Amino acid sequence: MPDWHEIPDAKALQPGEMVHSMAGTEDVLVLNEGGDLRAYLNRCGHMNVPLDLGTLKSGVLMCAQHNACFDARSGAIRSPPVRRPLPADALPKEMAAALQRTEANLARVICKPLTPLPMDRTGGTVRVFV
Ligand code: FES
Repeated sequence: MPDWHEIPDAKALQPGEMVHSMAGTEDVLVLNEGGDLRAYLNRCGHMNVPLDLGTLKSGVLMCAQHNACFDARSGAIRSPPVRRPLPADALPKEMAAALQRTEANLARVICKPLTPLPMDRTGGTVRVFV
């Protein structure tokens, strides 16, 4: 059942920093974009890779896995995942065939925008509702 959860490490976040923390059973990402805090589930909208493994620069949250970029304030997609197929002769034949199948599957995965979580900053604490 959704509830409010305090994220103690989020209080000290400086602009451009982010932190992840468990909030109940959910892994939550809190980031500071230009002095404003935002919270999201710590999962990429593409394939759920933890977003804290990526980067936050100039208002853009970039996933470490396939480089999808999200607007740090709204969660909107700024750019879709990037596919980087390897040259056909870079790998043994069997491995190249397996990667081609994976590429075809990945091409079908839809990237979704991130949804900001409700936040509360009263009393000097940072809480998220999830
Ligand atoms: S999992 Fe994040 S871009 Fe693919």
